[in-house]
Amino acid sequence: MTSFKRPNPIDNEILLDEKKIIMSKTDERGIIEYANDYFMHICGYDVWELMGEPHNVIRHPDMPKVVFKLLWDRLHKGKNIHTLVKNLAKDGSYYWVITNFDTHYNEEAKSGMETSEKYLTDSFNDNNTTYDNFIMSLLKISQDKLDFYFSDTY
Ligand SMILES: Cc1cc2nc3c(=O)[nH]c(=O)nc-3n(C[C@H](O)[C@H](O)[C@H](O)COP(=O)(O)O)c2cc1C
Repeated sequence: MTSFKRPNPIDNEILLDEKKIIMSKTDERGIIEYANDYFMHICGYDVWELMGEPHNVIRHPDMPKVVFKLLWDRLHKGKNIHTLVKNLAKDGSYYWVITNFDTHYNEEAKSGMETSEKYLTDSFNDNNTTYDNFIMSLLKISQDKLDFYFSDTY
């Protein structure tokens, strides 16, 4: 008799569609106030299961605690942080996200574009990078290719 072993979801990576964005909004304690459709689709929870819950419901046990310490330290200083987070879906599968905390959006409404721009450049300086380099590293392309995409010949 042949027996089939059911695949363990813990070994299953959910691959994200690069054209879609996972987005959530929390209060200052990390309680989820909003999650977009793609977020819900990927993590597999229903809206009622997530709203009002702490964001650590999707925390993956493989994630080192220190990453979140760093994250909160930066957020409390009003700074952005870009980091890679492994998240846990409801069925036990996992998926990787690149986080980008847009705390500066509120600042932009309060004190204008100048503060927002300073915030953005400061956060790139802190990471010894520039906006262009950051985008290129995300897209995994070179400066030549980036220039080409934005040239008239493209
Ligand atoms: C806007 C926002 C988004 C967050 N997104 C995630 C996330 O995708 N995955 C995650 O594990 N933690 C995320 N966190 C951090 C969690 O709030 C929490 O600190 C983390 O899961 C660690 O849990 P713990 O503090 O109980 O150890 C986010 C926090 C904020 C403020």
